[in-house]
Amino acid sequence: MTIQDPAALTASEQAALGSGADFWSTKQVGDVPSLVLTDGPHGVRRQVGASDHLGIAGSEPATCFPPAVGLGQSWDASLTEQVGAALGVESRALGVDVLLGPGINIKRDPRCGRNFEYYSEDPHLSGRLAASWVQGLQGTGVGASLKHFAANNTEHDRMRSSSDIAPRPLREIYLRAFQHVVQQAQPWTVMCSYNRVNGTYASENHWLLTQVLRDEWGFDGVVVSDWGAIQDRVKAVTAGLDLEMPGSGGGADQQVVDAVDAGELDAGVLAQAAGRMVALAAKAEAGRAVRVPAFDADAHHALARQVAARCVVLLKNEPVSKRAVLPLCEGSSVAVIGEFAQTPRYQGGGSSHVNPTRVDVPVDEIRALADGGVVTYAAGFTTDGSGDLAALREEAVLSASAADTAVVFLGLAAHQESEGFDREHLELPAEQLELLADVVRVQPRTAVVLSHGGVLRLAPLSGIAPAILDGALLGQAGGGAIADVLFGRVNPSARLAETVPVRLQDTPAYLDFPGEHSHVAYGEGLFVGYRWYDARDMAVTFPFGHGLSYTSFAYSGLELAADAQGITASVTVTNTGERAGREVVQFYVAKPSSSIARPPQELKGHAVAELAPGRSARVTVFLDRADLAYWDIRGDRWVVEGGTYEVRAAASSRDIRETAAVEVVGDEFVLPLTLNSTLGEVMATPGAAEVLGALMPMPQAAADNDALGIDMAKMMASIPVGRLISFAGGAVTRDDLGKALAQLNASQA
Ligand code: GLC
Repeated sequence: MTIQDPAALTASEQAALGSGADFWSTKQVGDVPSLVLTDGPHGVRRQVGASDHLGIAGSEPATCFPPAVGLGQSWDASLTEQVGAALGVESRALGVDVLLGPGINIKRDPRCGRNFEYYSEDPHLSGRLAASWVQGLQGTGVGASLKHFAANNTEHDRMRSSSDIAPRPLREIYLRAFQHVVQQAQPWTVMCSYNRVNGTYASENHWLLTQVLRDEWGFDGVVVSDWGAIQDRVKAVTAGLDLEMPGSGGGADQQVVDAVDAGELDAGVLAQAAGRMVALAAKAEAGRAVRVPAFDADAHHALARQVAARCVVLLKNEPVSKRAVLPLCEGSSVAVIGEFAQTPRYQGGGSSHVNPTRVDVPVDEIRALADGGVVTYAAGFTTDGSGDLAALREEAVLSASAADTAVVFLGLAAHQESEGFDREHLELPAEQLELLADVVRVQPRTAVVLSHGGVLRLAPLSGIAPAILDGALLGQAGGGAIADVLFGRVNPSARLAETVPVRLQDTPAYLDFPGEHSHVAYGEGLFVGYRWYDARDMAVTFPFGHGLSYTSFAYSGLELAADAQGITASVTVTNTGERAGREVVQFYVAKPSSSIARPPQELKGHAVAELAPGRSARVTVFLDRADLAYWDIRGDRWVVEGGTYEVRAAASSRDIRETAAVEVVGDEFVLPLTLNSTLGEVMATPGAAEVLGALMPMPQAAADNDALGIDMAKMMASIPVGRLISFAGGAVTRDDLGKALAQLNASQA
C-alpha cells in the first residue's frame, strides 16, 4: 500500500499525526495507518485493557529476558542481537510496531533507581551492546526507540530536573553511546527524556533534537516524547520532536495548527515532522507484511536461559579445604537458603515490567541438576518483614551445617529499587548479612548468589563469603541459568559493567546526587565510573570489567598497528585451565602526557574469545580513530590529539595483562592566535620569541630569575598578550601586536 504524500496532508492532518490516538497507538490519518508503540527493553509489555506507563496494569504474556543490568554483564553484542531479534518476533506476534528500548543512559550514580534498565557506566560498552540489540530487533521489521535522550541519570524529580553538564562530559560520556547507536544501527525512533539538559527540556531542546541528533549525527527517524514529557507541544515541534505520547485528546494538535496560522510555527517544520511519521508508518507497514501469528514461548524461554547464564558474573571463588567452592559437584548435598531461591527477583519495577510466560524457581532448577544429591531449602529471611527471623535463621543454619555446600540467595526486593525513585544507600538488608555470617560459621563451603538491579556495597559480604555469583537481574529463566552456572554446565564468563565501590562516599556523584531544586550538577565531569576511581587511584571492591571463570586465561604478544582509520590491536589469549571457557578481552586506551584532562584509561574495544582447554587464539579488535577523539570546546568539535597512545589488553580495568604503545597522527587543529591568546600559548608557537621579542622584552627563563626569586615566564604565561600593551608604556600598540600575531598565524598555516 503506497502511503500518502505528507505534502498532500492539511496542517490539521499533519498535526494529528504528531500525537497519539490513545496511550499506546498513533492516529490513522488518511491512508497513514495507526501504529502501536509499547515497552520495553527486555520484554514486550502489551496492554490490551487498562494502560499505564508504570507497569501496574496487566499485559499479555511475553518472554522476560534479562534486563539491561544483566545483559550488560555479558559484554556480548551477538547475544544482545539475539535478544533483540527474539523481542522483534514477540512484538510482531503481539501487534507492536515500535518497541520502546533500548535504554542506554549512563549509570552515573549507583543510587539511580532505574540503573537496572541501563547497560553500563561506560559509553563504549553501552553503545556496542545497544546497537546490536537495535539491529536484531529492527531486522524483524519492528522499530526501536533509543532512550532516554538525553542525560536521564536520576529518577528523583525526573520530569523537571535539569541535568547540568559541561560540554566535554556531555559529548564524551552522556551522548556518546546515543551517537554510536544512531550512526551504526539507525533506530527508527529516539525517545526524548523527561528532564531538562542544561536548563532546556529535552522535548524542547532544538540543539539536542535537531542540531546534534539530526544535523550532526544524521538521524532521519522519528523523535517521540517520553510518556507525558511534553509541556509545550508547539515548542517541542519547533525543536524537532515529531510525536507526543500518549495522545492528549487532540487539544495540543489544535495548538499546533493555530501556531502555524499565527506564523509562530513554520509550516515547513510541521510538514517535516509529519513526513517523518509517514516514513515511520511505511517502515511499520513493511514490517507487518511479515505475518507472525504467535511466538514459540518454549524456544524463547530456552534462549532466555542461555542468555541469562552468560550474564552471571563470578565475582569470587576461593578454595575451601583446597577445593574451590564452585562449581558444585553433582551428587553432592546442597543447602539452598534465601527467599529469592523460592521467589526469584528477576526484573525491575516500572514501565519495563513484563508479564512472563513462566518463571524458573531457582531451588527447583538446582534440584533438577543435583543428580541425586540432597537439596534442602530454607527461607532464612523474608523481604516483607513478616515471619520469625530467629526461627528462619536457625532453620537455615541447621540446613547449612548438614550439607556439603550452602548456596545463599541474597539481594534487593522489588520495593527497594525501581523506576520512579532513587535509592538512598547501597546496603544489603542487615538481616541478610547476619544470616550469611551465621551460615558460613557452620558451613565454610558457602556460595552467595546475588539478585539486584543497582550496585550494592559488597565489601562486608565479600569479607564473609568465599564464593559469590552476581546474577544482577536475569529475567524469567534466571533460575535455570543460575543452576547451570552453579553446577558448571555453563562456565561463567560475564564481566561487571559497573564498578562496585568500597563505600557510597567514594562514588563520583556522591555530593551531586540526586540534585536539589530541580538541578543536578554533574560535578564529576568526565570522571564517571572507573574513570573516577582510576583517576583518584581509589580502591574498589570489584572493578569495572571484573569477572572470574572456572578456568584461567593467559595473554601474550600484544601488537598494535595505527593507520588513518584507527588502531588495530591483536593479542594472543590462551586457556590455561582444564575447562572450556569464554574470555572477555578488554582494550583500554591511555594517552600519556596529554595536553588536556583525560581519565587515566578508557575502554575503546573488547572481544569475546571462546577457547577449549590448552587452546590459544589471536584476538584482534579495531579501535576506531574517531573513538580516540575528545570534544574540544574551543572549536566545538571532535579532535584527535596526536602523539603516543598506550593500549592495554586486560581481563578487567584493574587486571592489565599486556601493554603496548603506538603513535597516532593527530588532527590539524591550530587555533589562530589573537590578542586573547595567552603569552604561554603564543610562546608555544615556533618563532614567537623572535617575533614578539622584536616588540617587547621577553620574560627570562626561570634560571635567570633566581635573583628575583620568581619564575617570570610562568607568572606571565597566563596573561592574554593583548593586556601586555597596558604594561608597555605605549611602546607597543594593538596594531603592532596584531601584525606580529598575523605573522605567526601565517607561519602556522
Ligand atoms: C515511562 C518511561 C519510558 C517508557 C514510557 C512508556 O515513563 O520513562 O521508558 O517507555 O514511559 O511506558
